[in-house]
Amino acid sequence: MVKKMSIEITKVKYFLELREVAELAEKIWHECFIGILSHGQIDYMVEKFQSLEAMTKQIEEQDYTYFAVRDDGELCGYIGVKPESDNRFFLSKLYLRQDKRGRGIASLMLKKVFEEARLSGKNSVYLTVNKHNDHAVDVYKATGFEIVDTAVTDIGGGYVMDDFIMEYTF
Ligand SMILES: CC(C)(COP(=O)(O)OP(=O)(O)OC[C@H]1O[C@@H](n2cnc3c(N)ncnc32)[C@H](O)[C@@H]1OP(=O)(O)O)[C@@H](O)C(=O)NCCC(=O)NCCS
Repeated sequence: MVKKMSIEITKVKYFLELREVAELAEKIWHECFIGILSHGQIDYMVEKFQSLEAMTKQIEEQDYTYFAVRDDGELCGYIGVKPESDNRFFLSKLYLRQDKRGRGIASLMLKKVFEEARLSGKNSVYLTVNKHNDHAVDVYKATGFEIVDTAVTDIGGGYVMDDFIMEYTF
């Protein structure tokens, strides 16, 4: 029997839910970046960008919003976004647990991102994605994003991010 999905994507408003997102982020990052980044770099990036402390700071000081993705009430993914001061909306994080992939949830997540961008009065969404993250690049291309630039960013700790910058203008 195929179980029907019941997907909800809601803004994270409470500390306890953000803590749940941080726990999920740690799991997803360690499963999806193996083979792309070293263990050391994954640990470093999770702590720097996705720990409870880091995400609290992003929300309080950098205008980030996180959304929780739940299937039948169970947290299985999350989205992080931020409006820029120009016409662009930054898709900072789009993460779905491995067992939930390939089922149309990512497209619902991206739809939500575009809705939020429009609500913020923006006409473009951009993101950075690791050059070797082939599946994510394919998903973004299938959605209509184009590679507009590349960026090598020093994130400290002796690590760099080697990314494509992709953008979708509507
Ligand atoms: C990126 C991520 C959220 C995408 O979720 P997913 O469930 O794997 O995505 P899907 O396989 O459902 O693909 C999404 C859409 O892209 C399409 N797509 C995917 N690969 C494609 C390809 N090679 N060619 C054409 N279309 C493709 C799918 O058909 C689907 O469209 P549909 O919903 O209309 O059928 C998920 O893989 C993930 O969390 N990965 C790990 C974290 C990550 O890398 N995040 C991005 C960091 S920038």
